[in-house]
Amino acid sequence: MRLSLKTRFTLATSLLVFAMVTLVSGLYIGRLTRQTLREASKNADFVAEQVLTACKSAMSEANERGDATPSDPQQIRTYLQRAFDNSSTLNSVIESDLGFNASILEITITDDNGIVITSSDASLRGQKAAARPNISSLANARFFEQLRELFGPQQTYEDSLAFDFGASPYGAVRIGLSSAFLRNEIQPGLISAAYWALGSVLFSTLLALLVSRVSLAPLERISQQLDRISAGQFDLEPAVERGDELGAVSNKIVGIGKQLRDVREIFSALRENLDQVMGGLEDGLLLFNVDGLAVLVSPAAGNFLQGSPEDLRGRKVSEIFPPGHPIHAALQITGDEIEPADGKEAVLGGRSGPQRIGVSAQAVREHGTRMGTLVTLRDVESFERIGNQLQVSERLAALGRVTAGVAHEVKNPLNSMRLWLEVLKGNMPVDPEPQQAVKMLDTEIDRLDHAVKTFLSFTRPVELRLEETDLRALLDEVLDAARPAVTKAGLALTFDYPAEFPPVLVDRQLIHQALLNLVLNACDFTTPGGHIGVTLRRGGEFAVISVADSGKGISPDDQKKIFQLFFTTRPGGTGIGLANTFRFVQLHNGRIEFDSEPGRGTTFRVELPLARLVELPATKNRNFGQPFAREER
Ligand SMILES: Nc1ncnc2c1ncn2[C@@H]1O[C@H](COP(=O)(O)OP(=O)(O)OP(=O)(O)O)[C@@H](O)[C@H]1O
Ligand SMILES: [Mg+2]
Repeated sequence: MRLSLKTRFTLATSLLVFAMVTLVSGLYIGRLTRQTLREASKNADFVAEQVLTACKSAMSEANERGDATPSDPQQIRTYLQRAFDNSSTLNSVIESDLGFNASILEITITDDNGIVITSSDASLRGQKAAARPNISSLANARFFEQLRELFGPQQTYEDSLAFDFGASPYGAVRIGLSSAFLRNEIQPGLISAAYWALGSVLFSTLLALLVSRVSLAPLERISQQLDRISAGQFDLEPAVERGDELGAVSNKIVGIGKQLRDVREIFSALRENLDQVMGGLEDGLLLFNVDGLAVLVSPAAGNFLQGSPEDLRGRKVSEIFPPGHPIHAALQITGDEIEPADGKEAVLGGRSGPQRIGVSAQAVREHGTRMGTLVTLRDVESFERIGNQLQVSERLAALGRVTAGVAHEVKNPLNSMRLWLEVLKGNMPVDPEPQQAVKMLDTEIDRLDHAVKTFLSFTRPVELRLEETDLRALLDEVLDAARPAVTKAGLALTFDYPAEFPPVLVDRQLIHQALLNLVLNACDFTTPGGHIGVTLRRGGEFAVISVADSGKGISPDDQKKIFQLFFTTRPGGTGIGLANTFRFVQLHNGRIEFDSEPGRGTTFRVELPLARLVELPATKNRNFGQPFAREER
């Protein structure tokens, strides 16, 4: 049981006062007892003297009456008995002494053998007087012994004074004192001491309560002030306005509160920045402290682990990656400890099927001390896909630059070949064979010329005419343009746009062409009865347009080539459509990617930056990475 400070203070004070009062009362009672006993002993001495004097006068009176003084001890006893009985002085002294001294039980006169000659207690006469402890030894005894004797079973104490008969000692005057009578004398003093003790303990308890209440009140206010600070209300006013130590403490708490508020503001600003940075990361980050507690979880990590970052934050390593979890197996986890590791892989069950994840764990150290562990999760597949796209566009850009030059150089000889062929045609013999050969040459030169022209127009720099565009309206135009083809192919077309959508900054014509190519491809590669779905949604700072079909899909081999110029699997196709779409999207700083499953369908996704975030460089004479033709054919 924990006692409050106030209770402890009150108890301590009361106990202290109780101890003091007990000590003082003990001393007082000790003195009182000793004094009472000494007084009783002195009184007894005095009474014995008085009685002895009366005895002597009784003996003189007997002499005067002419009683013969005997010498035989038996006769002496009878002589003395008679003398004492007849002495009115002795009897009245005994009576008045008994009457005035409350502690005296009886007064007895004995002979040299201790036989009672006379006594205030008549029944003792002629009996042997009992041996009794001396009152002066009790008066000089120790305090506790005195108390034990007085408050124990009743006892009789004695004070005696010897007297002579003739010239030799004969008997003694014995004063009997009762312990009960002595106790009665001390008792009132004892009772009043007890009342005083009780009274002062009660008074001191009340006083202690009052004092503790008054003196601890500021502490309570300081405690409330601390409570408010810990609840986030940083007081600006001290709780206790006084010049003493408590006032100083209260002022210091206000100072600490201000510092805490500043730290909290800095912390929340940092946290906001960190959240923003983490929100933009594709990689999932989980930061665990030394105790294995997740203190930082990025939104992407939440997506990988299928939980909200708020839920994961504050959980232990063993709760997030329990035994049996793919990441528990991929990383070396014992209890809540993670060993640093790099380049591990795990397969997590994602929303759209199993997902290959790259996992690494790095120890976070400060001044050589390990502070925690940073676990990074990476979507390996999209990483590889983006890598591939980058490779393709880089390669295409480089090759595009070289081959554009070559194509230009091919065009001049081609023109001159054609001129010379015309000259040759005019001077031809009429034989059918040379005629056939010249015709073939003519057709081949035409084909080559067409290819070179297409290629040159493809590599020519494009001047973008950017305008703020509502993609929903643009998509409507695209679908209107594609509708005849959709109907002809016997397909169903659905579209899904949000009610509100921010604008994008694009060259309407180019993006129209890019999207139309996707829809037309979907018509070309989907058998009648199939379905085309066009959707628009927002993905972070991008508009995401997807064109999904239920067509024949693209074989894994072809997937690497579809953006190349002149790549086609369609009889009568030119293989220019997707190359153009790729290029136009790139010119807008966008992204294009696709998922395809042979036999089930293909989904193309085009991402275009939203208008207020677009920062396109000057577009004149810009020559982005162009897909290059027939590289692998
Ligand atoms: N939706 C799709 N479904 C299946 N395959 C597709 C799809 N879209 C494109 N492809 C594949 O990519 C190739 C290249 O497409 P691209 O549009 O560049 O050329 P094309 O459609 O064949 O000819 P064109 O230049 O006349 O459009 C196609 O031949 C086809 O193999
Ligand atoms: Mg096409």
